[in-house]
Amino acid sequence: MSSLNTTQRNLPLVVLVSGAGTNLQAILEACAQGSLPATVEAVISDRGTAPALQRAAAAGITTHVLQPQDYPDRASYDRVLALLIDSHAPGLVVLAGFMRILNDAFVQHYRGRMVNIHPALLPKYRGLRTHRRVLAAGEREPGSSVQFVTRELDGGPVIAQSKVPVRMDDTERSLTARVQACEHRLYPQVIRWIAEGRVRLADESVVFDGARRRSPVIMDWDETTS
Ligand code: GAR
Repeated sequence: MSSLNTTQRNLPLVVLVSGAGTNLQAILEACAQGSLPATVEAVISDRGTAPALQRAAAAGITTHVLQPQDYPDRASYDRVLALLIDSHAPGLVVLAGFMRILNDAFVQHYRGRMVNIHPALLPKYRGLRTHRRVLAAGEREPGSSVQFVTRELDGGPVIAQSKVPVRMDDTERSLTARVQACEHRLYPQVIRWIAEGRVRLADESVVFDGARRRSPVIMDWDETTS
């Protein structure tokens, strides 16, 4: 396992996707605008039909498709995936709607160098169909979390969160859209902190500006509270 190298100017990223790729788009735009000192070296998808691949190609980024059905088991898939990622020498692996569970060896290999975004205020609502469960539970203020990936699914130390209040007339679709709009600010911001060397993983804790955090940073943007 190698440690995160944040001394270079632009942090090289490999982004893993399965779906629409709106978070990938936000990261690409932040890099292009110069607000995120990072470069997307490659985008890898487990689904050949993922619209995220078109977004990457439109931005001139190298893309790869690695389909699980082409591998005999999870371990073989994860091994090849790691080799492919490492061939791009990323400083950080970014899971942006990558809907696969990764095995322990893979997660350990990228410990402290892999982040995930999840559409809930973790540790609440791990897993799938988050917004549906949030609405069914009568939750008033869900949100999104960015975390380091560790062995426990959606259980890694959370770096930052953003809250998105539920509205009276919210549907699963409208809530998803507002949470995603907030994710598009949150994810580039957290990756920026990592690129600047301000955030790192130490044991099971997030260290921010040299201090061990007891709780996630809460981002409070006007748009997310209106
Ligand atoms: C995002 O909302 C992200 O939080 C979620 O998938 C969506 C991907 O959207 N991730 C998870 O649920 C991971 N457990 P995108 O493809 O448009 O970025």
